[in-house]
Amino acid sequence: MSSADDQKRLVGEAAAALVEDGMVVGLGTGSTAALFVRALAARKLQLTCVATSQATADLATGLGLTVAELGETREIDLTVDGADEIGPGLSLIKGAGAALLREKLVWEASRRSIVIGDAAKVVTTLGKCLLPIEVIAFGHKTTHLRICDALSEFDIGIAPRLRMKDGAPVRTDSGNLIYDAACGRIEEPAALAFALKSITGVVDHGLFLDLADQALIGGDTGVTTLEP
Ligand code: A5P
Repeated sequence: MSSADDQKRLVGEAAAALVEDGMVVGLGTGSTAALFVRALAARKLQLTCVATSQATADLATGLGLTVAELGETREIDLTVDGADEIGPGLSLIKGAGAALLREKLVWEASRRSIVIGDAAKVVTTLGKCLLPIEVIAFGHKTTHLRICDALSEFDIGIAPRLRMKDGAPVRTDSGNLIYDAACGRIEEPAALAFALKSITGVVDHGLFLDLADQALIGGDTGVTTLEP
């Protein structure tokens, strides 16, 4: 049986093979996206890249790729990124790497977006992994209460937890905080996405709905392509 790492490498390489010379390419964040970035750099194409995090920008620049700011290039032709869960219709949960906001900005600015992942990422219902919710630091405890109220409307009773690292709250590349919600099962992702986004203080959340055009999934027999 192939390991998750083998599968991630396989889909990273498969996605890199889809990139054509001269493209503007969005680069995702996380371990799977990093393997895509490495495979892409190895192709030595003439590309302009837009990174979804400082970590990815640093990796890409170090590998010799040209990285520009979002909005400083023509439209992004293709974005390739990982996900924490890949559900029905290519609905996704993203953001375990705290890059959800920049990821969503880049995905939404792309003509085409491909999600890549190992087989374990595919689920029949979203919500087993934590759902990240990015909030403005000012008044975040008040925002947290409003998030709890919103989640309770969806029968999610566990209060989201502030993401911490080394004893301090995690700050995103944009200086915001993240609350991680243990949803269990997200039966109505679109309604939940709308409810969360309606709360002042919530910048964004990790539900990526109607954004992925294709998924490349690694497995024992190679790469499987999924469409929404
Ligand atoms: C980063 O914020 C995330 O959205 C990642 O894309 C996601 O967590 C997948 O990461 P891995 O490829 O490391 O599993």
